[in-house]
Amino acid sequence: TVLIVDFGSQVTQLIARRVRESGVYCEIVPFQSADEGFQRLKPKAVILSGSPASTLDIGSPRAPSMIFDSGLPVFGICYGQQTMCAQLGGKVESGHHREFGRAFLEVEKDCALFDGVWSLGSRHQVWMSHGDRVTAIPEGFEVVATSANAPFAFIADEKRKYYAVQFHPEVVHTPDGAKLIANFVHKIAGIKGDWSMSAYRAKAVDAIRKQVGDKKVICALSGGVDSSVAALLIHEAVGDQLTCILVDHGLMRKDEAKNVVAMFEEHYNLHLLHVDASDRFIGELEGQSDPETKRKIIGRLFIEVFEEEAKKLGGADFLAQGTLYPDVIESVSFTGGPSVTIKSHHNVGGLPERMNMQLVEPLRELFKDEVRVLGRELGLPDSFIGRHPFPGPGLAIRCPGGISREKLEILREADAIYLDEIRKAGLYDAIWQAFAVLLPVQTVGVMGDGRTYEFVCALRAVTSVDGMTADFYHYDMEFLGRAATRIINEVRGINRVVYDVTSKPPGTIEWE
Ligand code: XMP
Repeated sequence: TVLIVDFGSQVTQLIARRVRESGVYCEIVPFQSADEGFQRLKPKAVILSGSPASTLDIGSPRAPSMIFDSGLPVFGICYGQQTMCAQLGGKVESGHHREFGRAFLEVEKDCALFDGVWSLGSRHQVWMSHGDRVTAIPEGFEVVATSANAPFAFIADEKRKYYAVQFHPEVVHTPDGAKLIANFVHKIAGIKGDWSMSAYRAKAVDAIRKQVGDKKVICALSGGVDSSVAALLIHEAVGDQLTCILVDHGLMRKDEAKNVVAMFEEHYNLHLLHVDASDRFIGELEGQSDPETKRKIIGRLFIEVFEEEAKKLGGADFLAQGTLYPDVIESVSFTGGPSVTIKSHHNVGGLPERMNMQLVEPLRELFKDEVRVLGRELGLPDSFIGRHPFPGPGLAIRCPGGISREKLEILREADAIYLDEIRKAGLYDAIWQAFAVLLPVQTVGVMGDGRTYEFVCALRAVTSVDGMTADFYHYDMEFLGRAATRIINEVRGINRVVYDVTSKPPGTIEWE
């Protein structure tokens, strides 16, 4: 295991990604609880992250001294380098030249960390982003590479296996960064790269068995990848002690609930309850137009329906959730105060306390792409694993203005045609998420010889890595024309189609 001490950098998660990609397990621990994390994980190596803080500020974070006392290899990145220097007897000063972006390193000395990656005298692109910089290095260290603005860009104390860099090896703009990190964990720390999904699967199944014993587990299956993979893993561990409940709120895509149920029935022999609660949801949503009100109604009803179904089953001791690692990592904040709520996200939060259940969260240690690999391990078809994300409140938040059954039906048809065209054009996998939105606006058109006065449909498609930021997808106009013509011809109630060219920020991916 590698321990990553997080000082609050925006890119700490990328350090974890790079370590995991090298086949080594790691965890991120906020600096405030790094002592405890160190004792719990018993790591074989430590990486210190970057930070928006300055070591020159009073009370700025430090690495626990037990890390340096342990004799383990340590890799300090950016702020990590600065705090190593501050703590081990070097000097940090506020930089007159703040450095952001591309820089070039010159290798000045051989170093065990460069093995098979960099050689003496060679020059390499790296990514810098720092204000302060090291101006004197602690005893035992020597400079192994420099950049024009950073005479201490890469320093090493090979005897103690301490390495420290001013740049960010974890980002893609440092092309050799991943190899340097892999060298640190394999060659310097001597950790074998045998962390694999099949090993994880066996370990997770074991842990679920221990946690659950002979008790009952229920799982809300949404049809998304995360809840599906969690359910399959738990099913492998405890078989029929697991019951999955799919609450169909009538806000799913065309044939969605049917397809998900069929996929599970065909490939897996698990208890799956398909509850059609669409009348209840749509009954309460009818006429509601405020986005937050819609979200709250859906969240509440979901909990109510799920709770009722669980009671019918005689209750359960455990609730399964597809929580992922990014949701678990405690964020290190220097700004303080709660962040603004943009949208109240729909999940099954609140249920465990209400129903007095414990949580089973077998994906807590995984990133999204690792969940996909695990899903493949568990035999989920690629077409299922690669599906676009779909929000819990479903079509309700793609129907701005008052909700009605009729509008939902129109939207469902338009959305199905749009996605069909995307698949036919072979664009599905290049797009992060695509969907239709039905606007509460009617416009005049002419069809045949008659006047029409019908709704406008907006098409949305974005590319993104994590849904946090997104760019609109650049279709060619031919494609958009084809999709629009089909929607207008085939869907009664729509006579105009527009394309949304807003990125996130300033827009969000969904319209509500
Ligand atoms: P926004 O619209 O906030 O969406 O840019 C970012 C991503 O989150 C999805 N999304 C949700 N997912 N429950 C979910 O499970 C929700 O309430 C919810 N709202 C938005 C959205 O589809 C996009 O992938």
